[in-house]
Amino acid sequence: MSRRGLLRSAGTAAVGLGLGGLRPAEAGATPADPVLRTESMMGVPYQARDRVRVGLVGCGRRGHDHLGDLLGIENVEVRAVCDVVPAHAASAQALCLRRKAPRPEAYTNGERHYEALVARDDLDLVYIPSPWRWHVPMAVAAMEAGKHVALEIPAALTIEDCWKLVEVSERTRRHCTMLENCNYGYEEMLVRRMVQAGLLGELLHAECAYDHDLRRIVFENESEGLWRRAEHVGRNGNLYPTHGLGPVAWYLGIHAGDRFDHMVSMSSPEAGLTAHRKATVPAGDPRWQEKYDCGDVNTSLIKTALGRTIVLQHNVTNPRPYDRINLIAGTKGIFRGYPQRIFFDGERPPHKWQSLKKWQSRYEDPLWTKLKKAANKSGHGGMDYVMSWRLVDCMRRGLAPDMDVYDAVAWSAPGPLSEASVAAGSAPVKFPDFTRGRWKGARA
Ligand SMILES: NC(=O)c1ccc[n+]([C@@H]2O[C@H](COP(=O)([O-])OP(=O)(O)OC[C@H]3O[C@@H](n4cnc5c(N)ncnc54)[C@H](O)[C@@H]3O)[C@@H](O)[C@H]2O)c1
Repeated sequence: MSRRGLLRSAGTAAVGLGLGGLRPAEAGATPADPVLRTESMMGVPYQARDRVRVGLVGCGRRGHDHLGDLLGIENVEVRAVCDVVPAHAASAQALCLRRKAPRPEAYTNGERHYEALVARDDLDLVYIPSPWRWHVPMAVAAMEAGKHVALEIPAALTIEDCWKLVEVSERTRRHCTMLENCNYGYEEMLVRRMVQAGLLGELLHAECAYDHDLRRIVFENESEGLWRRAEHVGRNGNLYPTHGLGPVAWYLGIHAGDRFDHMVSMSSPEAGLTAHRKATVPAGDPRWQEKYDCGDVNTSLIKTALGRTIVLQHNVTNPRPYDRINLIAGTKGIFRGYPQRIFFDGERPPHKWQSLKKWQSRYEDPLWTKLKKAANKSGHGGMDYVMSWRLVDCMRRGLAPDMDVYDAVAWSAPGPLSEASVAAGSAPVKFPDFTRGRWKGARA
């Protein structure tokens, strides 16, 4: 069953019937009727296929993680890899050979050589773990060339680019799913099932974050150090909203009965990167020319159409333990992650958190029950593998993806919207309705 179907059958607030009972065209099929070209991609199933042929654009750290996972999934063939740094693509090819998979063809001839990769006629899906500024041009090129896309986070950095992804996905009938691995975390999937079963009652409030000390990484002379620190120059807001927001969007049934309506945002002063540079970068280094504009702690408050509230935080520049908060609260109880704890109304002793452990056997997600052994060898506690396995499974069985282009852009939009709110003295800013009214619950 698709995730949308699950959400509906679990009784998540679902209203209206946008498609009037029509079965949407299969994604990947060429629509005979040109009118279909502007129809929604919500709930549109992939065309079923025996195997999934993948191209990989961006063979850096994350690209290698994805490649390792994809090589461990049955009926996946990695046909082509692309990177501006030939050694990165060669390393990806070598990984394939070590894993006894065929050597994919490499595209390393400059920063637009991905255009040749996406033009191949033997690819179904293009994975895009590239620097943020490349996400949209690469995803658009892949969809225009008839390929489905699996795009790293955040999907886009501006509202204009969010709309571009929606428009191209709808027109080309190709899915643009975002690789938000945190939605597939063991705990997140377990809690989602408990929420769907109504254990927390009527949902009212969520809190989430990406709090991860990245100071060392963004100052490295390789990988993200080459481009991610630059995002802190000229931008001030939440630069990485989706890790925290994706899972709570699933709890709250965003685009399955609710949607983000508006938000306000505030940033603390910037101090973390400046202090780290002072402590670690020698005088005269070009990095001393940089002026960091992004406040260390950005806090946003989102209001949904149903009136629920979400606190969303971002902090990657101060010393602190990793935290995504992952809090969901309703009329019957509350869950909070980091570390996991749950409380139900009437629980004894009162005011004391309980462990989630006793709910594990009953509410563990079947994906985790099935994949636990294989997933535990993969990155980020196994959620990366579960995410890719599930995407491939949806494509093979002809299901709609769990996360569509509307989720990708709505979860990414707090990036530019937080910047706009911070710049306007924390004024409220509206989320566009990227679904054009189809968030109310009518899904295939
Ligand atoms: N979901 C997660 O848990 C997670 C974790 C890490 C990174 N990421 C995301 O993955 C993406 C990549 O991050 P990373 O850590 O691998 O960075 P990275 O710098 O290690 O890798 C990016 C790669 O893209 C290549 N590249 C740059 N421009 C290119 C172009 N025009 N054509 C082809 N290749 C190009 C670079 O040479 C590099 O090899 C980012 O979007 C990041 O936010 C997600």
